Amino acid sequence: MAKKFYITTAIDYVNDDPHIGHMYEKVMADVIARHRRRMGDDVWFLTGTDEHGQKIERAAAKEGILPIELVDRVVAQYHELLRKLNISNDDFVRTTEPRHRIGVLELIRRIQERIPDDIYLGEHAGWYCQTEETFVPENQVRDGVDQDGHPVEWTTEKNYFFKLSRYTEPLLEHYRRNPDFVRPRTRLNEVVAFVEQGLRDLSISRTAITWGIPFPGNPDHVIYVWMDALTNYISALGFGSAEDERFRHDWPADVHLIGKDIVRFHAVYWPAFLMAAGVELPKQVVAHGWWLRDNVKISKSLGNVVRPHEIIDTFGVDPFRYYVVREMVFGQDANYSDQSFITRYNADLANDLGNTLSRALKMSDSYFGGKTPPVACDDNDLLRAAGALAPEYLRAMDELAFSRAMDVAWKLLVAVNGYIVSREPWKMFKETGADETLSRVIWNSLESLRIIWVMLAPVMPATAREALSRLGVDPEAIDAGALQWGKLPTNAPIRAGDPIFPRIDAAAYMGETKMEETKPSAGPPPIETTQAAPPDLARVSIEQFMEIDLRVAEVRAAERVPKSKKLIKMTVFTGEEERTLVAGIATKYTPEELVGRKIVIVANLEPARLMGIESNGMALAASIDGEPSLLSVDPNVPSGTKVK
Ligand code: MSP
Repeated sequence: MAKKFYITTAIDYVNDDPHIGHMYEKVMADVIARHRRRMGDDVWFLTGTDEHGQKIERAAAKEGILPIELVDRVVAQYHELLRKLNISNDDFVRTTEPRHRIGVLELIRRIQERIPDDIYLGEHAGWYCQTEETFVPENQVRDGVDQDGHPVEWTTEKNYFFKLSRYTEPLLEHYRRNPDFVRPRTRLNEVVAFVEQGLRDLSISRTAITWGIPFPGNPDHVIYVWMDALTNYISALGFGSAEDERFRHDWPADVHLIGKDIVRFHAVYWPAFLMAAGVELPKQVVAHGWWLRDNVKISKSLGNVVRPHEIIDTFGVDPFRYYVVREMVFGQDANYSDQSFITRYNADLANDLGNTLSRALKMSDSYFGGKTPPVACDDNDLLRAAGALAPEYLRAMDELAFSRAMDVAWKLLVAVNGYIVSREPWKMFKETGADETLSRVIWNSLESLRIIWVMLAPVMPATAREALSRLGVDPEAIDAGALQWGKLPTNAPIRAGDPIFPRIDAAAYMGETKMEETKPSAGPPPIETTQAAPPDLARVSIEQFMEIDLRVAEVRAAERVPKSKKLIKMTVFTGEEERTLVAGIATKYTPEELVGRKIVIVANLEPARLMGIESNGMALAASIDGEPSLLSVDPNVPSGTKVK
């Protein structure tokens, strides 16, 4: 019988539209679900939305609408985005649904039935954080804010409490017995340290708000939003309903995938509720890192969001999925920028992956009449490379180290490129025609590409189908055996077609000088694999620095470059002469506000052509995630003054 595998994501607050951080998590869960399905597991993949509580109530009040109107609207956005992103969830449960309410009430009923004093009515005074909807211990409050900088208020409440303090030891025992209960290990250590301090009872009802599930027997209170939300994982399976077979079959969850900010709720409160109710605990809580912008967490409240819609509409779904999966090393944070997106797209997808596929298909197309070659091969270097890399890939996938799994696929891609370069099939064709040796060489290249696309299929499902069908392979054939060598049919019709990932014209998109330089020079398609490397921070000597001629210059005229979103053409005076400079600053500055301004330029830069205009020098600007801020000097400093 197939092994069951139940994976959940966090259910997002629907006080605003989703951003890249929310969708990263859903993509990551989708990659896991797709991978497990093809390995033969019986997968249940749940996601949903967290629709009760103060955040929603306030956001709706701000708009002058009812909470239900707000959540209905935002949920529609969620559904659209999940569909667009090809997320293969099996269910989606809103906490406003009746089946969810049944589950929550059943959890409370079971706790009350088993250990009656685990839930009691009590009075609590303490520092209350409205952002997190939780009381914050005294020692974590300073100058009116908690450790995360959220404001706290001294509040006295008569509430229902859950006897969390009773679970300090049972939880510690559970962590000791199950060291993989929370991953990565650093997060488990944090949880253990938190619980070791001793747990305080948890307030699980609110009277100040009405938007929630009424507390059983006392409708003046609504159930604490976190208790409500966490129960989604079991209520989704029919917990407490008349026919809860699904619950018995699928619970416990194998993986709760969440962000690192909400580990405490999942690894402390939730298991304690379940212990109290006599329900089995989830097997694992997996915490991913944060998407940042300029090293700050992307969040709705900070307003620095990146919306996936625009990226997907411009570049496609699979490049977005690939980017988020490849760029974020499991458990760590990652910075989003348009520039890193475009660099990765062009280097990894358009160049490495797309070009190699086009090249190999074109050769097969022209040497073997639009088909895969007639003779296969079962003894060669690529076969050995693929054989060694497949287990490495599977290990990385099992460890949820998708970025590393992508690296493994790229190792095979590098091997294919090296193989093609060293065999020079175009020469072979010229010298001996489409003979058996050439057939083997091309077949080996295509077969390796098939395996690469099987590796990439959970991350880029739609493009993998397309690539596999171009390779003459059944696009559905991505099961557990598909990584083995030898599955590419001979004499099967192939499609060379257009590039699978058309190159992005970075300069046109960004309108920035530095992006222009990343465009490839004309000539044969590059075939080395370009992995994004950490920036080279080598030091320069003072002599080297002095070779750069930095000068103060006055902007005498400025105009926008036609058809460019970001470029401005300036005439600047350097103390000796007027010269033309083109700078990618139009998103921030109007030509009018530039004229008369003193800026700092690199005066001895080689001329560069941008949108047909010769630029003689470069204006210095700080770049805040692509948004420029020009360096300026006191207006009294004469033009031409050296800057050092
Ligand atoms: N509603 C609660 C979760 C209840 S789960 C029973 C919640 N909602 S949230 O909308 O604030 O966050 C939902 C998920 O998105 C969380 O896992 C959170 O970590 C994740 N992210 C929100 N912003 C994020 C980033 N900037 N980067 C990555 N993920 C982050 O918490």
